[in-house]
Amino acid sequence: MRCHRLVLGLGFCLVLGTALCVLCNMKLQYRGQKPFQPVAPSQYPQPKLLEQRPTELLTLTPWLAPIVSEGTFNLDLLQRIYQPLNLTTGLAVFAVGRYTHFVQHFLESAEQFFMRGYRVCYYVFTDDPEAIPPVPLGPGRLLSVIPVQKHSRWEEMSTRRMETISQHIARRAHQEVDYLFCVHVDMVFRNPWGPETLGDLVAAIHPGYYAVPRQQFPYERRHVSTAFVADTEGDFYYGGAVFGGRVDRVYEFTRGCHMAILADKANGIMAAWREESHLNRRFISHKPSKVLSPEYLWDDRKPRPPSLKLIRFSTLDKNTNWLRS
Ligand SMILES: *[C@@H]1O[C@H](CO)[C@@H](O)[C@H](O)[C@H]1NC(C)=O
Repeated sequence: MRCHRLVLGLGFCLVLGTALCVLCNMKLQYRGQKPFQPVAPSQYPQPKLLEQRPTELLTLTPWLAPIVSEGTFNLDLLQRIYQPLNLTTGLAVFAVGRYTHFVQHFLESAEQFFMRGYRVCYYVFTDDPEAIPPVPLGPGRLLSVIPVQKHSRWEEMSTRRMETISQHIARRAHQEVDYLFCVHVDMVFRNPWGPETLGDLVAAIHPGYYAVPRQQFPYERRHVSTAFVADTEGDFYYGGAVFGGRVDRVYEFTRGCHMAILADKANGIMAAWREESHLNRRFISHKPSKVLSPEYLWDDRKPRPPSLKLIRFSTLDKNTNWLRS
């Protein structure tokens, strides 16, 4: 009888022990941890940045992502939240061909305004590492020059960005940075760009199309392209010159765009605005969790409208024909 009880007791311990072991080794699957689902196609009215009052910008998308502009956030509070996290933000640019001329000005302005007080990794992809000037960097800020193959055609190069970034994240950047922004190098920072821009998946509204109906957005309109967007679809027209987010989400995003570009290539199609068309297509089904107002992506050839209180990052007035030749 006593023996029987002992066996029962031992058995119970064994079961409990095994259960505990299983619990310890188990990766917790939180309720919130569901695989990311793209947004299924549906029809709804276009959100309008200038809908409210003529000089007030919309501050929230219909899917509840904040639209960041001056006056929508308290920088002191954000600094207090983000500073202790010791985050590292990557900033990736492509400087191929004559675009190496822009690197110095770009980096100097980024040193002055981009994520000041935070750890920053600059990734400069170039076909000519020798041409990248030594720019003095502040503490906690690093520059990596990454050689890339030269492609003869400018169009070819501009469709390789998604592929190169996703490969770079897989190889290195996923261990080096928490957030990653991918921006164009022929631009300059003019005012602070800080932690208000950090989010899971971040898009910036293109300065040329923030006040036009979506039927006029320069989306790819041919059905044969994977970047096709119907007249009834689209939220904002986003610029290809600025996107970013948490490094894992940027990986997913750039890989997705790269796959779509490859599919088009196999069919002999080049989307209307190349990777910008694919980026816009993907942001319709994979909504950004944070949207940057055109303060974060302006064009110096345009006068600043009263609705924008300041310009933080903008395209230089340049002769593009000279650059692409
Ligand atoms: C901040 O992070 C870096 C690496 O990302 C690490 O080397 C450094 O020790 C960290 N600093 C603090 C105060 O935790």
